[in-house]
Amino acid sequence: MTPFDERTARVTWDRAADAYARGQASGRDFYRCAFFGPAQVALVGEVAGACLLDVGCGAGYFAREMAARGATVTAVDISPRMIEHARAAGGGAIAYEVLDATALAERYASASFDVVTACLALQDMPDPARVLRAVRSVLAPGGRFIVSIEHPCTATPTRMWERGPDGSKLRLGIAGYFARGPVSTTWRGWEYEFRTVALHAPLEDWFRWIGAAGFVVRDLREPCPTPEALAGHPGLADATLVPYFLLLDLRAA
Ligand SMILES: C[S@@+](CC[C@H](N)C(=O)[O-])C[C@H]1O[C@@H](n2cnc3c(N)ncnc32)[C@H](O)[C@@H]1O
Repeated sequence: MTPFDERTARVTWDRAADAYARGQASGRDFYRCAFFGPAQVALVGEVAGACLLDVGCGAGYFAREMAARGATVTAVDISPRMIEHARAAGGGAIAYEVLDATALAERYASASFDVVTACLALQDMPDPARVLRAVRSVLAPGGRFIVSIEHPCTATPTRMWERGPDGSKLRLGIAGYFARGPVSTTWRGWEYEFRTVALHAPLEDWFRWIGAAGFVVRDLREPCPTPEALAGHPGLADATLVPYFLLLDLRAA
């Protein structure tokens, strides 16, 4: 089985960081920047004046979105190279820090933040159940944790598109939904090829972890590209066929 621990996460994302950050800056990452990212921003809603923590911030995409909307933002990531890119990108007075998200409770006092966000990062962490508990402890009572993850129903260990004669995607074949564990992905078509590891678990595991950490689910969304996003990025067409992402609005119970 693919090994997956905090060291693996740090090393693989450090190696990925240059291509990832430059790919985002160039518009290569349009699934995030034109599709599910804006959907997550909308789900977060009003944050002006809020004390907000972004977990697994990578090169700072979501932290910058939150700072631009008036939040006071702290953002953490386990990869030092990602944090270098985030700092270099600017985008407001964001306090960036290299930190393993499982150590949040040791680093910040309890109830330090009004809102916590994690943009497509939790499934890239080896122990999301522990991270959920750590986030709960630094959230103020009644505070919200707004999360996007890869949709467990389609980010399965085995997945293959069936294509039409013109190469267009018709339907997705999936298997291994009930397998729990790390899944390795090779990212092609970026400045250089890189490999990362994510954790696959069925939806019922995610919901158990969320409840056990002391959250209630306020809302759940499965974003589909808007007509405007599709017009700007025809490559999003496959995301109208199956749900790639799951957005969760969690409230500290
Ligand atoms: C797909 S990237 C998402 C980055 C950013 N949120 C974005 O939207 O571009 C996942 C990030 O999670 C970070 N990560 C993985 N495990 C972590 C952990 N235990 N603590 C903090 N960050 C972690 C990785 O370093 C990586 O930057």
